[in-house]
Amino acid sequence: MSKKNILITGGAGFIGSHVVRLFVNKYPAYHITNLDKLTYAGNLENLKDVEGRPNYTFIKGDMVDQAFVDKLFRENSFDDVIHLAAESHVDRSIKYPMDFIFTNVIGTVNLLNACRLHWQDAGEHLFYHISTDEVFGSLGDEGFFTEMTPYDPQSPYSASKASSDHFVRAYHNTYGLPVILTNCSNNYGPNHFPEKLIPLCIHNIKHNNPLPVYGKGENIRDWLYVEDHARAIDMVFHQGEVGESYNIGGSNEWKNIDLVYLLCDIMDRKLGREKGDSARLITFVKDRAGHDLRYAIDATKIKSEIGWEPSLQFEEGLEKTVDWYLNNNEWLENVTSGAYQKYYQDQYGA
Ligand code: NAD
Ligand code: TYD
Repeated sequence: MSKKNILITGGAGFIGSHVVRLFVNKYPAYHITNLDKLTYAGNLENLKDVEGRPNYTFIKGDMVDQAFVDKLFRENSFDDVIHLAAESHVDRSIKYPMDFIFTNVIGTVNLLNACRLHWQDAGEHLFYHISTDEVFGSLGDEGFFTEMTPYDPQSPYSASKASSDHFVRAYHNTYGLPVILTNCSNNYGPNHFPEKLIPLCIHNIKHNNPLPVYGKGENIRDWLYVEDHARAIDMVFHQGEVGESYNIGGSNEWKNIDLVYLLCDIMDRKLGREKGDSARLITFVKDRAGHDLRYAIDATKIKSEIGWEPSLQFEEGLEKTVDWYLNNNEWLENVTSGAYQKYYQDQYGA
């Protein structure tokens, strides 16, 4: 295994922490530098088990700060970048779109500029951009997103991610920067911040609080266990073709309301409650503005060209997720104290 000096951005967040852990554990010959601003979504608790490892360094910093990014690249000869840092929540993007433009667009372009400037040696490099299926817009009842689906972002979040994807491709086309992109469906699993549907419902069920379901709960998402995504990122990083993009998805479509009922059943069982107790907490609330109806991924390309497939069935993944939240009460209570309370009140008026 050759040595590599890899910068992973957003490693203290939900997906990034699983990617950092996988790379630090699996590739002792690599050095992993995790750059993270530690926003409300970043939490070093997520990486307690890799802290102090000889092949891991954490750097706190803001990728929107161009001078900081340039200094970081001058002081470290990174071979590759795996870029996950972002503002990631659609509801926050509706309220604070500028944060998404600064972080997701300017932050990404700052990194691209630094790579362009510092990768002028003969070495092999890769800028691997982690993106979302939301850039493709909203599906009706039929069809799937493929890599050829035209971009049609509908929320400020997806518009900012689409913009960053376009810049990544433009830097490949214009300057020859070696890039790969992946567009993944909704992830779930341990360390997911409880502003997103699944961890928010787990937290609220635990506390007997209402479960806010937007509209009629008929919107559909394609859910993937986060460790399966991290495994896909590992495989694409090592086997993907420069200049290509790959869609990643669980082939696992769920209507929100069906998913919330399933979660309620699992929680009733785990908490020793009567079946149906938690479902009584379901509350239909005002729909999200511009709410995309359906996302669904056609993952044929990554399956046939890279050999990746999801490994977990949804029920099994949800059980593991619920167990993790119930066994990590301190993590959940820490991240839901302080600023979270204000966010929750602003968002749900409760
Ligand atoms: P997250 O919100 O949990 O974590 C984002 C991390 O980025 C946090 O640790 C945060 O501190 C850091 N960060 C934010 N702004 C920063 C800045 N200016 N400089 C440095 N670090 C900064 O997000 P996530 O759910 O783990 O998503 C990671 C990536 O995967 C994002 O690019 C997201 O668009 C993409 N993605 C997410 C999903 C999903 O279901 N969560 C699905 C597909 C793609
Ligand atoms: P979310 O987890 O925010 O992911 P995304 O919007 O990126 O797909 O939401 C998943 C689905 O659940 C989406 O259709 C919106 C819906 N939703 C609710 O019904 N209630 C909630 O409180 C939240 C956060 C989401």
